Amino acid sequence: MTTDATIQTLPERQESTGEPLDVLKLRKDFPILSRKVKGKRLIYLDSAATSQKPASVVEKMDDYYRRYNANPHRGIHTLSEEATAEYEGAREKLARFLNAHSSGVVFTKNCTEAINLVAYAWARKNIRPGEEILCTVLEHHSNLVPWQLAAEDTGAKLRYIPVTNEGDLDLAYLAELVTPKTRLVAVSGASNVLGTLPDLRLLIAAARAVGAKVLIDGAQLVPHSPVDFQALGADFLAVAGHKMLGPTGIGALIARPELLEEMDPFLSGGGMILDVTLEGSKWIEPPWKFEAGTPPVAEAVGLGAAVEYLEKIGMERVRQHELELTRYALERFSRIEDFQLYGSLHPERRGATFSFNIGDGRGGIIHPHDVGTFFDNEGIAIRAGHHCAKTLMKRFAVVSMCRASCYLYNTPEEIDRLVEAIEGVRKFFSGV
Ligand code: ALA
Repeated sequence: MTTDATIQTLPERQESTGEPLDVLKLRKDFPILSRKVKGKRLIYLDSAATSQKPASVVEKMDDYYRRYNANPHRGIHTLSEEATAEYEGAREKLARFLNAHSSGVVFTKNCTEAINLVAYAWARKNIRPGEEILCTVLEHHSNLVPWQLAAEDTGAKLRYIPVTNEGDLDLAYLAELVTPKTRLVAVSGASNVLGTLPDLRLLIAAARAVGAKVLIDGAQLVPHSPVDFQALGADFLAVAGHKMLGPTGIGALIARPELLEEMDPFLSGGGMILDVTLEGSKWIEPPWKFEAGTPPVAEAVGLGAAVEYLEKIGMERVRQHELELTRYALERFSRIEDFQLYGSLHPERRGATFSFNIGDGRGGIIHPHDVGTFFDNEGIAIRAGHHCAKTLMKRFAVVSMCRASCYLYNTPEEIDRLVEAIEGVRKFFSGV
C-alpha cells in the first residue's frame, strides 16, 4: 500500500458557472428517465430517497467487472493493481470534490455507517458522563438514534435544537443549548423532509467557541450544493453516494485527518492491520484503518464517476437550477387550496424537497399512502410516510407526509404535472 496519497496537494477546484443547466440535454444521460410507469412517462420526484444514475456511472461499474475486477491492496498482479488505482482514484476524486484531504476520506457502506463510525470510534472515547451532545428535532433517524445510543453508553445528555413553524432551526435557543459541557454538535446540512438549510456557519462558530466538535449529516446537502469541507470548518461530514448520482452500498466519512489519527478502529479485520500477533494487533494509518474487509470497489469507482459527472455540470449550477425549481414550485403550490406545505417559503433557505399534505375536504387529510398510490398511477414517484424523521412528524403534529424531492434532472413541467396530480387526487378522494 502506498501512502503517497496522504501528502498530495489539492488540485484547484473547477466550477463551471454562468450558463444555466441544459436539463433536457442532461436528462438523456439518465436512461431510466425515459421509461414509462403505468403507461405514463415517469416523473421521478424521489431523489431524496435515492437519485437516478447517469449512464457514465453504470458503464464505469460495468467496465470494472468486465476488465479489472480484483481485490485492491491485496494482490501482486495487474488486475489488483488496476483495481487499487481506481479505488484510490475514487477517493482522490471525492476529496477534490469536497476540498477535503484524501487521508480524511473513509469509504463506508452509506451515510448511516459514517455517522455510526463517529458515534462508536470518537464519541464513546471522548464524551464523559454529564457532558452534552447537541442534536436537532429535524434530524433523520440516522443522525439521531446513534446519538441516543452514544449518550446512553457514555452517560452524556442529549439535547435538541427546536424547529420553528416555518421548519427552520430555532437558533434563538442556541446560546442556551451550546454550553461548555457540549462536546459534539450533530446536525443535518439539509433536512430530508423540509429541505431546510440550517445556518451551518453559525452552528459551527457556536460549537467552536466552546471547543465542541461538529458533525454534519451531508446526505441531502452534498448532492445539491457546493461544499468546501475545509472552508466550512466542520470536523466530520457524512456522505451518501447513492443520493449524489452514485450507486448504493457506498458512502463516506469526511474528517479532519488528525481526528482520524487519534481514533481507534470502528470495524476490525483484514486490510486495516500493520501487525497481528497472538498477543494483539496494530493498525495502519487512516483512512485504511477504518476500512476493514474487502471494500466496495465497484461502488467506489461508480461514485468516482458520479463525482466526475457533477463536477462537469458544476455544483453552483445544480444549486441554481434547484433554486429556480423551488421558486417555481412554491409559486404553484401557493395557489392550491386546502394544501399544507411544510417548511420555509423562502427559496434561499431551503432545498427543492417539498413535504405536504392534501386536505380531504372534511377537515382531515388524504392519507399520504393513498396519495402515493394515486400518483404512481400517473407515473409520478414520490415518498409517503414518516421519512425516517419521526421527531419532526411529531413537531408538526402529523404521522406522515407526502414528499416530492427534486434533483438536477427535474423540470418545471414536472412540477406542473405534480400540481395537476395534487388537484386530481383531491377530486378523486373528496369529490371537490
Ligand atoms: N434518507 C432517505 C430519505 O429521506 C431514505 O428518503
